[in-house]
Amino acid sequence: MDLEPDNELLCGRMLGMFSPIGASPLQRYLKDFPDIPGFFQFESMVIWDFLLTAQERLGVKGNLLEIGVYKGKSAVLAALYMRPEEWCVFVDISPMPESEAAIRKFRPANNLFLQCRSGDLMSHRELREAAGTFRWCHVDADHTGYSTMHDMEVAAYLLRESGIICIDEFFNFRYPQLTAAVYQFLAARPFDFKMLFCGANKCYQELSEFSSSPPLGRRRAAWAWCRSGACGSASVA
Ligand SMILES: C[S@@+](CC[C@H](N)C(=O)[O-])C[C@H]1O[C@@H](n2cnc3c(N)ncnc32)[C@H](O)[C@@H]1O
Repeated sequence: MDLEPDNELLCGRMLGMFSPIGASPLQRYLKDFPDIPGFFQFESMVIWDFLLTAQERLGVKGNLLEIGVYKGKSAVLAALYMRPEEWCVFVDISPMPESEAAIRKFRPANNLFLQCRSGDLMSHRELREAAGTFRWCHVDADHTGYSTMHDMEVAAYLLRESGIICIDEFFNFRYPQLTAAVYQFLAARPFDFKMLFCGANKCYQELSEFSSSPPLGRRRAAWAWCRSGACGSASVA
C-alpha cells in the first residue's frame, strides 16, 4: 500500500485524535519534518512509533544506532523518541550535514555522527566501550550479505536485553543475500534473538530478556566475528 502525502497528513491527524497526551513524536515528525528525502515508508514510521513507544512504556532505556543515514529520514524519527540523556549514534560513509542540522534542532547534545564505513565501526572506542547499552539499532547501509551480517553483529554487541535490531530491505528480491544473512544470524543464536515482526520492507529482531547466552559471552562472540576479517570484505560483496 502506497500512501499519498495527503493521506500521510490525514493519518498523522488521526493518530493525534487518539493520543491522550499532546503530540506524539510521530505527529511532531510529520508536522516538522515532512519533506526529508529518503527511503522510509509511512507504514514503517507507524511500526517504529508502536515499538519505540512500547519500549518507553516498558521502561526499556538505552541508546540508538543507525547505520545508513542518508538525509536523515528515519534517523530523525528515531531520535525524536530518545530521552535527552540517551546517546544517538549515526553512521554513514558519506557526510551527513542535513541530518545533523535537523537532529540538532531538537537534540542539542548526546549525538555522535560517525562518517565511516560500517566495517570500521568497532575501531571507535566510544562504541567498543558501550556494549549492552543500546535499545534500538537500524541497519540500512549497503545491503550486501557481508555488511548486513557485520552490522547485525555490531548491533548484537551493543544491544541490551529487550533491545531491537531493525533491518531494511528484508525480503526485497533485489537483495536475496541480505535475507539469507538475517536467517544465518538468527539460526546461529536461536535462544538469544527472535524475529518480532516483519513487514513494509523491514524486519525486527528482539534480544530476548531470557537470552541463554550470558551477555559477556554473546558480546565476545560478536566481537570475535567483527575482528575475524570477514567484515574486511564488507563493501565488496
Ligand atoms: C538506503 S540509504 C539509507 C536510507 C535512510 N535510512 C532513510 O531512511 O532514508 C543507505 C545509506 O547507507 C550509506 N552506506 C552505504 N554503504 C555503507 C557502508 N558500508 N558503511 C556506512 N554507510 C554506508 C550510504 O551512503 C547511504 O546514505
